[in-house]
Amino acid sequence: MKVFVTGGAGYIGSICVEELLNAGHQVTVFDNLSEGHRMAVDERAQFIEGCLSDRETILNAVAADQSEAVMHFAAFAQVGESMTDPSKYFRNNVANGINLLDAAVEAGVKKFIFSSTAATYGMPDTGPITEQEPQKPINPYGESKLMFETILKWYRELHGLEFVAFRYFNAAGCSEKLGEERRVETHLIPNVLRVALAQKKECRIFGTDYPTPDGTCIRDYIHIVDLAQAHILALESGKCGFYNLGNGEGYSVREVIETCRQVSGKPIPAIEEARRDGDPARLIAGSQKAIDELGWKPRYATLEQIVDSAWRWHSAHPNGYSS
Ligand code: UFG
Repeated sequence: MKVFVTGGAGYIGSICVEELLNAGHQVTVFDNLSEGHRMAVDERAQFIEGCLSDRETILNAVAADQSEAVMHFAAFAQVGESMTDPSKYFRNNVANGINLLDAAVEAGVKKFIFSSTAATYGMPDTGPITEQEPQKPINPYGESKLMFETILKWYRELHGLEFVAFRYFNAAGCSEKLGEERRVETHLIPNVLRVALAQKKECRIFGTDYPTPDGTCIRDYIHIVDLAQAHILALESGKCGFYNLGNGEGYSVREVIETCRQVSGKPIPAIEEARRDGDPARLIAGSQKAIDELGWKPRYATLEQIVDSAWRWHSAHPNGYSS
């Protein structure tokens, strides 16, 4: 298939592009390079530098491309930042996304695949979370993604645009060639591995008084290549709807740091700090729907495998894509 990918120069988008191309699809990447990297765009893909806020540009780009499907990864995704700058999140993740949706409808695109998030669930008190769990986001990031999910339902009903929205849990790990490099890194695993690379003195644990066995937040980590595979299955299936993507296992911040120590063989000092605003205590996925309906089979489901792939990429690229 021909697929138009927004945010295809970013961490998740670039690895999905690589997997799409490996599976024999044709890809056009549309990215403004505000967060992504030109070097992360597979050379087999066509690249358009552009911004979703520019409605005419995106309408023309999608119309000219004649893709059958759109994958939409271009969004801001930092929970903490969304608490201090909500406007940035609603503008880009909702308003700019509507420009893309309209472009897809006008161009007669058949399928829209959207990166949603576990942050739409807010503070669930049970786990694993299924897709039926009430969605009550506790930060503007999660709210912006939930708003877009709602818009997708209306565009399907009113314009017939079929969609799959994946609610990602914590994407982590790297492919052989492509990795996780952001201009401002807030995520746990890359920050902990920077200490192993001696680029930082210590890592930080945000909150030790959560109602979890060791007091730190629990997350469900999913390998980026497994996540990318789910997108390819969605593209090739006739399914429409919402799917969680996670492994159904939760790991605390302390457990993640310990795994990074074991994988890297480095001591990795950690300091304990106050809670970060907007963090739920525990997010664990129930992903049976993706397994049953899409035939999704995660291949790198253990935290060791996930951290190991991240460590291999970060140690081979200590300065990211400029290494
Ligand atoms: N954390 C630390 N120290 C750090 C960085 C993070 O203790 O240096 C903690 C956070 O407070 C949180 C956990 O590690 O408890 C994971 O934090 P991340 O920033 O790595 O990831 P988040 O869980 O905040 O968010 C990620 C994605 C979201 C997605 C969410 C779903 O960025 O897009 O997972 O679980 F919604």
